[in-house]
Amino acid sequence: MNFLELAKARVSCRSYSGAPVSKESVMSVMEAGRLAPSARNRQNWAFYYAQIGDRAENFIEACYGQKFVGQAHGFIAVCDKTDDYVMKCGQNAGSVDCSIAMTFMIMRATEIGLGTCWLGRFSPERVKSLLDIPESYAVVACSTIGHPAGETPRQPRKELSEVFDLRS
Ligand SMILES: Cc1cc2nc3c(=O)[nH]c(=O)nc-3n(C[C@H](O)[C@H](O)[C@H](O)COP(=O)(O)O)c2cc1C
Repeated sequence: MNFLELAKARVSCRSYSGAPVSKESVMSVMEAGRLAPSARNRQNWAFYYAQIGDRAENFIEACYGQKFVGQAHGFIAVCDKTDDYVMKCGQNAGSVDCSIAMTFMIMRATEIGLGTCWLGRFSPERVKSLLDIPESYAVVACSTIGHPAGETPRQPRKELSEVFDLRS
C-alpha cells in the first residue's frame, strides 16, 4: 500500500472482533509514534497502552458512554508532559506534537490491518486513573485499537477545491 492508499484505508473503526492484538503489533504501533516529528524535536510526550479486558465498563464510562470502546482490545493514550511550550505561531506545541504522534500510530495500525478510532470524547481524569498516568500530564489524544469486525464504510470528504486554494 502506498501512502494515499493507506490514507484511504484508514477509517474510524467502531466494531471490533475481540481477537487479541499481539504485543509485537502494539510495539510496532508505538514505534511509529516514537518516530513522529515534534517541535524543536522535544519529544515531550508519553505513550500509554492498556488492554481493556474486564474493565470495559470503566473505559466506556471514561469515554462518556461510547459503547464500542468496551469492545476494543486495547486503548492508547498519548500525553503531553506539559511544558506549556507555545510556538511563535501561537499554537500549543504539545497538542500538535501529540496529535502527530497519534496520527503516525493510527496509520501504522491501519497498515498492519488493525482498526482504530481516535477519541476526543473522554474524561482526562478518568483516563489518567485507568492507565495510571501522572496527574501533571495532559491527555491529548486517545484511541481504541483492535481487530475490526467487518468493513467500515468510508465517510465522505469535501472536494479538494473546497479546502485548497492554490496561490501564485
Ligand atoms: C480529534 C478527533 C476526535 C474524535 N473523537 C471521536 C470520539 O470521541 N468518538 C468517535 O466515535 N469518533 C471520534 N472521532 C472520529 C471522527 O468522528 C471521524 O474521524 C470522522 O467522522 C471521519 O470518519 P473516518 O475517521 O471514518 O474517516 C474523532 C476524530 C478526531 C480526529
